This record gives sequence, structure tokens and C-alpha cells, in this order.
Amino acid sequence: MSKSAEATLAALFAAAKAAQAQAYAPYSRFHVGAAILGPSGAIYAGCNVENAAYPQGACAEAGAIAAMALAGERRIAEIVVIGDGEGLCTPCGGCRQRIREFAAPQTPVHIAGPDGVRASFTLEELLPHSFGPEHLGR
Ligand code: THU
Repeated sequence: MSKSAEATLAALFAAAKAAQAQAYAPYSRFHVGAAILGPSGAIYAGCNVENAAYPQGACAEAGAIAAMALAGERRIAEIVVIGDGEGLCTPCGGCRQRIREFAAPQTPVHIAGPDGVRASFTLEELLPHSFGPEHLGR
């Protein structure tokens, strides 16, 4: 990886970790952060926000995508998701589809733990044979 790609990934990781610290997860106690790199170079972060009516909770990725859209960006160049624990905090099925709306098959999805990135996938690896805007002719 080039020095600048490394620096970008480090900045994304830092933003995701800072967002994770703001997670509102009193029910699962599983705090998640996400950070998106937009084509402009700006970074958009989000955290999970749970709700006493459990299904109304929102994932960290959804928050980061909302922040990106609000800023007027429409492409995900790269995304980092961070969770605690030993396992890989890969995006849930719904969030894979949310990411897919704004990303390309080869868009990197990095999965981090508290100490750094643990694994990197392409979106296509996480969501093969997916459905997207082009299927609607958009
Ligand atoms: N969660 C996320 O925010 N993103 C993921 O990729 C996986 C799961 C949240 C949802 C819920 O608040 C908590 O983690 C436990 O599932």
C-alpha cells in the first residue's frame, strides 16, 4: 500500500474509532463506528443508535451514509467499520445493501477492531450478485 493510501486508511480508522465512542447501544452494549471516504477526500462517520423499540435501532453504517448524503456526496470510495470483541464486525446484510447503493464492486470495506484494521474485503466479496440502481435503469 502506498504511503498516502496508508495515511488515508489511518485517518478513516481514527474517524471510525471516534464515532464508535459516541455509539448509543444500551441494549446490545455492542458499540460500532463507521467512516466513509468520499471522492472529495472528506470523511463521514456514524455510530449505531439503538432504541427501546429494538427494531428501530440504526447501524453505524446507516449514520455514516446519511452524513455523506447530507454533504452532497454520492459515492463511497472506501469504508471502515469498527467493533469490539474477537470477531470481525462485518456489516449486516442490510448495511451491505446500503453500501452497495453508493459503491462499486471493488470498493474496499475494511473491518477493524480496537487496535486497527483486521481484514479487508471488496464489496463484491461481501455481497455477490447484488441488485442495484442500474437494475432499475438509473
Ligand atoms: N451493528 C452496526 O451498527 N453495524 C454492523 O455492521 C453490525 C451491527 C449494530 C447494530 C446493533 O446496535 C448492535 O450493533 C448489535 O447488533
